[in-house]
Amino acid sequence: MSDPHSAITPPAIRRAVVTGAAGFIGSHLAHALLQRGITVIGVDRRGPASDESAATNLNMLHGLQGYIPVTADLLDCATDALLVDADVVFHLAGVPGVRPSWGPQFSEYVRSNILATQRVMDAATRMRVPRLVVASSSSVYGVTSGGPSIESDRLRPASPYAVTKLAEEQLCLAHAARAECPTSVVALRYFTVYGPRQRPDMFIHRTLHAALTGHPLRLYGDGHQRRDFTFIDDAISATIAAGTAPDDTGIVNIGGGTNASLIEVINIAQSLTGREIDVRADTARSGDVLSTRADTRRAEAALGWRAVIDLHSGMRAQMQALTQPTNSAAA
Ligand code: NAD
Ligand code: UGA
Repeated sequence: MSDPHSAITPPAIRRAVVTGAAGFIGSHLAHALLQRGITVIGVDRRGPASDESAATNLNMLHGLQGYIPVTADLLDCATDALLVDADVVFHLAGVPGVRPSWGPQFSEYVRSNILATQRVMDAATRMRVPRLVVASSSSVYGVTSGGPSIESDRLRPASPYAVTKLAEEQLCLAHAARAECPTSVVALRYFTVYGPRQRPDMFIHRTLHAALTGHPLRLYGDGHQRRDFTFIDDAISATIAAGTAPDDTGIVNIGGGTNASLIEVINIAQSLTGREIDVRADTARSGDVLSTRADTRRAEAALGWRAVIDLHSGMRAQMQALTQPTNSAAA
């Protein structure tokens, strides 16, 4: 008997649920889907009325047809009604950030990244949604030799955050592997995404902010850490491609395959702004890995995708967005 999951491709997307829609990646994804004429149910526990950053992120959706916002916590909201007739769930809701995950906030990571994911995956199964795309993370690889990480590599997550992201992707894949599960799962291991509206705790945002305002930049460690920085538009085109990729796609790295050091990022920011940054050395942070770099072969084969925006161009776009009046650099 043939494998019921083999070579099946889900239907074209007409209606999508985006969880984490008020966040950095989720708001860009919602916008890109709406521009393609897709109806979007955008779910987030942060609403524009009470959260300034959610309001800024969701501002670009105003006036676009087909956006249905839902302010709800996935830990306790009614989930099934959100998923009626959905062709795909893009599950991006979660608590991100490597460094704060050591502290007392760990329970928040567990609740949003694992327990809420279990509820979303259960609902997708009950509502027979054909595809769920889940946001995993390059952090699941942990300490590497410095070469490109392949999806099949041994995983050594080095922070509590990374452990929850590994649990999250594996939880979704475990559900999907059940014979009776009608939902196929694609898990995207995003590599440090940047671009307009990047989260303010992240390094490129902080570096550009420091260059534009003269405020000091805290550099954790010696600045030789390297990241496969991935521009938001590239991350979004990969994510949409994952919505209709074949059912057996599984786990895919979303990164460009090259990396840059934090010192290189500082240099680019200085050359873009013509201003020297006041860099203050600070101690290296637990859980921070020295290097991330994606092996891109599966993304190319399974999604027909590769990153096209180089770091200099992407940082220029992020800087331009920061200097627009609605997005003050002082934010
Ligand atoms: P973000 O914080 O900007 O967005 C996440 C959103 O999820 C927030 O708006 C938050 O309110 C929402 N959320 C969290 N818990 C929720 C819950 N229980 N119910 C409803 N909404 C909830 O983060 P981001 O940078 O856009 O990241 C999006 C996803 O991608 C996260 O899962 C993150 O772990 C993953 N990721 C991000 C990066 C990156 O570089 N930004 C890299 C790898 C993976
Ligand atoms: C980023 C995201 O924040 C995570 O949500 C995501 O899961 C992860 O990418 C991923 O690729 O999976 P990270 O690589 O730590 O995590 O990205 P940044 O927060 O931008 O930090 C990059 C480097 O800059 C780290 O070494 C960090 O210690 C350093 N940094 C950050 C500073 O030196 N100073 C700062 O003020 C902030």
